[in-house]
Amino acid sequence: MSFINPLHEASIVSKAPSPCVLVIFGATGDLTARRLVPALYNLSLEKQLPGQFVCIGFARRDKSHEDFRREMRSAIEKFSRIKPVEDALWKNFSERLFYHRSEFDHDEGYESLSAFLQQIDGKFGTKGNRIFYLSTQPSFFPLIVEKLHHHHLIADVNKEKTRWTRVIIEKPFGRDLESAISLQQKMCQHLDESQIYRIDHYLGKETVQNLLVFRFANSIFESVWNNNHIDHVQISVAEDLGVGTRGNFFEEAGMLRDIVQNHMMQLLSLTAMEPPISLNADDIRDEKTKVLESIRPIKHEEMDKYVVRGQYDAGFINGEQVVSYRDEDNVAKDSSVETYVAMQLFIDNWRWSGIPFYLRAGKRLPKRATEIAITFKEAPGVFFQQEGHAYYSNVLAIRIQPNEGISLKINCKVPGLTSPIQPVKMDFRYGSYFGTMPPEAYERLICDSMIGDSTLFARNDEVTASWRFITPILQHWEEHKPSTFPNYQAGTWGPQSADLMLTRENRQWRLV
Ligand code: BG6
Repeated sequence: MSFINPLHEASIVSKAPSPCVLVIFGATGDLTARRLVPALYNLSLEKQLPGQFVCIGFARRDKSHEDFRREMRSAIEKFSRIKPVEDALWKNFSERLFYHRSEFDHDEGYESLSAFLQQIDGKFGTKGNRIFYLSTQPSFFPLIVEKLHHHHLIADVNKEKTRWTRVIIEKPFGRDLESAISLQQKMCQHLDESQIYRIDHYLGKETVQNLLVFRFANSIFESVWNNNHIDHVQISVAEDLGVGTRGNFFEEAGMLRDIVQNHMMQLLSLTAMEPPISLNADDIRDEKTKVLESIRPIKHEEMDKYVVRGQYDAGFINGEQVVSYRDEDNVAKDSSVETYVAMQLFIDNWRWSGIPFYLRAGKRLPKRATEIAITFKEAPGVFFQQEGHAYYSNVLAIRIQPNEGISLKINCKVPGLTSPIQPVKMDFRYGSYFGTMPPEAYERLICDSMIGDSTLFARNDEVTASWRFITPILQHWEEHKPSTFPNYQAGTWGPQSADLMLTRENRQWRLV
């Protein structure tokens, strides 16, 4: 069980990953090179891969096993957490790395895959267990699952007990509520929900997993985690990068779909959920789903008050000049796609009634910083304030990345004969305390999929609840094209209207 890992050294992997073959569809894409294969290599170094394990890249480009291995080796050299690549380990790893060429809609490709998998089972002892990782354009997901089913590559959970099949689906799961429901219906024709692993790599981040431990293993925080004590919550996902080579993708997605609908909704639900009745995957996901279902829908006429969108103009990041979003490759010169979103929302349940949650996510902001900040209500102003001393709200900041850690801002008397008050920080940093680099999110998630632990994957009802909240915003934006884009300079903290959303309530965005 992944969530208990941070508590006890002995529980690093409480269940061993089973023998299996991982087939990556879309294996020539960026994700395979940057994240998936480096994650597998690191798992292999740390002896977390099953002894009987094989990875097959499935894609349309023509290449040999050797070509694929060569490319993956340079990807690992570039992107692996653990470097340098050791020849002996690489040899062992690469002997279990293969390439299979086929179009996604060609039956022959699946027939030959099926025969190849049987050979692999015979040679490597992978026991018929399969993980199919769909890292293709989302429009191929139903087709690939249909073909896998047609070629008997999916084990029937009700009839087959000796082999298993799991399908990992990369985000986005749908483009809006309607398409997510339709995708789910198609997937369910051939797969049981327990076989579907919807990946959201934020859930694999160590600091995100620690949210549950932090909240439910420390009674001092849980008892003030409600509307009696909290003034408001801010969740920020700031990136200094632009869209880079992903212009095509981003023109279809935008920030709301790319970050808010999935990563931010996960951070929100873990921050706001009730204690689950156990650490079982479904008990945790039940509570997360309830949060998402309790978000107050934003009314059409209040959309512009509660949701702000932005698009970056040219500017400077770390002293270097960068182009505007509209001047990025594969982006329309008059694009109305948002690269920044800020919103204010309310969770209409007992714990959070009346407490604003402010969310913001943006590209080309001054720095990369993801954090959850809880601002507590001020202490009653009866003593110090009457004597003319200002003091500050306590803020608990959970830094997801970088500088992973947790800090608590408290008021402190400055030493001396007078009594001015100054805010100071109690600061915990993972790096300095534990002294090791945590595994990458994809390492944890791939390992969990081999174990069959779906706690850190999104369940269908979570995804649906999130789309139910997000889709009216998308529709509103579709009907009202932005007239002010680009509306923030690269290297600044986003459009002014996002600041106004807080200042009108006497609050401010934190400087993360
Ligand atoms: C991905 C988005 O899911 O997350 C990217 O598609 C974004 O646009 C990335 O840059 C951010 O991930 P991380 O782990 O760097 O915060």
